[in-house]
Amino acid sequence: MEPIILGIESSCDDTSAAVLQGTKMLSNVIASQAVHIKYGGVIPELASRAHQQNIVPVIDTALREAGVTADDLDAIAFTRGPGLLGSLLVGVSFTKGLSLAKNIPMVEVNHLQGHILSHLIDLPEENLPHPKFPFLCLLVSGGHTQLVKVTSPLEFEIVGSTIDDAAGEAFDKCAKVMGLPYPGGPVIDRLAHEGDAEKFRFAKPSVDGFDYSFSGLKTSFLYFLRDRMEENPNFIEENKADLCASLQKTIIDILIKKLVKAAKALDINEIAIAGGVSANSGLREAIVEEGRRRHWKTYLPPLKFTTDNAAMIAVAGYYRYLNGEESDLGVAPVARLEELL
Ligand code: KG4
Ligand code: ZN
Repeated sequence: MEPIILGIESSCDDTSAAVLQGTKMLSNVIASQAVHIKYGGVIPELASRAHQQNIVPVIDTALREAGVTADDLDAIAFTRGPGLLGSLLVGVSFTKGLSLAKNIPMVEVNHLQGHILSHLIDLPEENLPHPKFPFLCLLVSGGHTQLVKVTSPLEFEIVGSTIDDAAGEAFDKCAKVMGLPYPGGPVIDRLAHEGDAEKFRFAKPSVDGFDYSFSGLKTSFLYFLRDRMEENPNFIEENKADLCASLQKTIIDILIKKLVKAAKALDINEIAIAGGVSANSGLREAIVEEGRRRHWKTYLPPLKFTTDNAAMIAVAGYYRYLNGEESDLGVAPVARLEELL
């Protein structure tokens, strides 16, 4: 019998719990926090309070939907970081309490590795293809952008990362400048469908190696809009779809260029994408298209596994549990990725 793992994710603004048996997902419950929308971004203090309200019902529902009780669990996998400290603390504290009360081992998971390993989740009703090792993953989330060589479910090598903003941040910040609601990524994606991606050109960065940069694009977008708005105060309103399409295409081009470069240098043709921005329809199409041209095998996560969810934390925790890894009660959440390594 494969072990039953409860996953708990609370790193940002989604409270999520999932139950997996081995890699097979039995439930995956997500409570998204609407409280941040009116502020145009996540307010950390409000996020931790909402996690506290949500965590018990979310875990309860996940156990119930999976048809198990806390006594059936073999391990609890939790996100230790990176993320918002107060938010992480809610998940970590709950994990400790349940672990202590029921004498269940707890296993810490790096949130970013969770995003990548979402490609290993099995669904009862659907055969999901899994990348073969080693694979190269373009990880694009709200806070991080990385190219990661994945040699096994436990071995990750970051071959490139952003030197400033993440791709998701570029989407969200540029959306904010255009007056679009938070998070801006999905809104830009939707509007881009009606726009002309060739209408506007924005500066692309030149960064060495496999690293990324998005802050220059954000700044040039901001100045571009400011200049145009001086001439025509309705400029954004009149060109919204074209602006979204052109901006999205620029971000995708930047992402793909380094992915291609790294895939060539590492001689890997198993290519995956993961993280919130991997929901972007333009990016998904572009990866498939590039893959066709370069004879890659490309792996797109199902949309429900692109943004934050606990199933990905549970699957990452499952492999760590198999490897005999266990966290002790003294474990503390960690906000920054660098401190996790
Ligand atoms: O991975 P994620 O859920 O949270 C972090 O770990 O950061 O990623 C959230 C990010 C946000 O920046 C959001 O705008 C972006 O993912 N995102 C998208 C799309 N859906 C979510 N960006 C572009 N197009 C989308 N369809
Ligand atoms: Zn995430």
